[in-house]
Formats: sequence, structure tokens, C-alpha cells
Amino acid sequence: MPGVCQTSVDEMLRDAERALAAGVGGVLLFGIPEFKDATGSSAWDENGPVQQGVRALKRELPDLAVITDVCMCEYTDHGHCGLLTADGDVDNDATLELLSREALSHAEAGADIVAPSDMMDGRVAHMRTVLDAAGRTSTAILSYAAKYSSAFYGPFREAAESAPAFGDRCSYQMDPANSREAVREVTLDVEEGADMVMVKPAGPCLDVIASVRREVGVPLAAYQVSGEFAMIHAAAERGWLDPERAMMESLLGIHRAGADIIVTYFATAAAERLKMESSGNR
Ligand code: PBG
Repeated sequence: MPGVCQTSVDEMLRDAERALAAGVGGVLLFGIPEFKDATGSSAWDENGPVQQGVRALKRELPDLAVITDVCMCEYTDHGHCGLLTADGDVDNDATLELLSREALSHAEAGADIVAPSDMMDGRVAHMRTVLDAAGRTSTAILSYAAKYSSAFYGPFREAAESAPAFGDRCSYQMDPANSREAVREVTLDVEEGADMVMVKPAGPCLDVIASVRREVGVPLAAYQVSGEFAMIHAAAERGWLDPERAMMESLLGIHRAGADIIVTYFATAAAERLKMESSGNR
């Protein structure tokens, strides 16, 4: 409904304004479409929630970097990250066309950075080619290069109504027991043209952040995911820990492991706290 959408765009702008004022450099947008289908066609709707959100942000707060999550799982009715074959497997190559179409639609709305989070093979190169052919050479690609299959995505999937209707994502997300694969995946994405790479989740993968940091020269982001955030909140609600200190300690660990950029639901709160601390010290 346009009315509902309008309200949420306004709310988002208020949150983004507060983030920018606190010193946060950018925001990452996800969309929950009005309807989902087998191909996830809402993903490239120019009036979709992400496209509308990006346009509003670039109009009102041009100094805030806008990153968009590029994936099919929020848009498909089966909740998988791509097109399915008749057997119910994800069809890697057919999905690439759809992801690039989604990324281009975000770029045309004004996104500074597109962030593919699907883990299909070859998507960075495909997306770069499609963006460049459309004249979007300055849209950067932040690749979720090492994305492990994780229990910590639970709250996000709940919120995005994107839990797979059947099966799981283990055929395309990485096995947490494997750390060398991360370096391989990241190196491949950089060769394909990724401008920045991301490790996810962050807290359970600090060793991966550190080893990727040693291997690649591009900026490295780490994503402190919904479950990591929710755990701290839930424990704080029970009076088991100090949420502010736990927040800062968890972020410091990710920074110490080697992340240049941290994507976190704590961003505004942490930036406000850092600002307060630095003005207090002066
Ligand atoms: C995929 C995507 C997910 C998250 C970010 N991008 C869901 C998933 O992989 O299941 C999870 C983020 C979080 O838990 O905070 N579009």
C-alpha cells in the first residue's frame, strides 16, 4: 500500500538522519516486497521498497553512502536465494541474470554500492559487466564474499519472512567448519571485480576476518548479524549483562580482527557513544 510505504520511508529517513548525525558513514537497505513469486520479480520493480528508499535517501541525505542488499530470498515465494530448477535445486546461472537486473535497478535508483549476498558463483563478474554496459561504472560492488551458513540469521529471516519454505541454504552458503574456502571465495570475488568484500557473520568468524585481511588488499567489511545483536539485547533484558559495554566489546573484537567496515544494527548507538566518549575526553 502506498500509504504504508510512505510511512516507512519517512521512518527510515528519520533513522538515517540520526545515523548520519552520529557519524555513521552509510546504510544498508533490504526490501520486503508487497508480493512474492517464484522468480522474485519484485526485486527489480523500480517502485519497489529498496528503489523508493534509495531515491528518498539520496534526495534527502546525499552525504550518506547507500548500500543495497542484492539477493532473491526476500522476493521469492519459496524463500531461496535464486531460481529453482524442476528438481528444486537453485539454478546458479539462470539466477545471475536476475541478480544483475536487481542490482542495475538499485543503481538506477541511485545506490552508491550494491552488495550481492546470494553466494551464486560468478555473480560479481556478471553484475560488473551488466552495470558497466548500462553506464553505471561508478556503482561499487561490495561482495558478501565469505558468507557462512549460520543459526545467527534467525531474527532477520523472521523479520524478512524469508526462511526457505523447504530445505536450507547449505548448497550455496559456506560450511562453518571450512576456513580455507573463505580465502578462496574472497580472492575469486576480487578477481571478478569486487571493490570491497564482506565476511558474515562476524563474531563467530573472527579468525576468517583475520585471515582474509592478510590475503586481500581491498577494504574488508564484516557483518554483525541479527542473532549476534539479538543475543546481547536478550541477555541485557534479563539483567545478565551491561548492553552498552557488551556492544562496544563485540564491535572492538571485530575491528581488532581486521575489519575496516562493520555492518551492525548497533551502528547509530555505537557511533553516538564513540562521539560522546571523544568529546568527554577533550
Ligand atoms: C540475504 C541476507 C540475509 C542476511 C543478510 N542478507 C539472510 C540470510 O542469509 O539468510 C542476514 C542478516 C542478519 O541476520 O542480520 N538476503
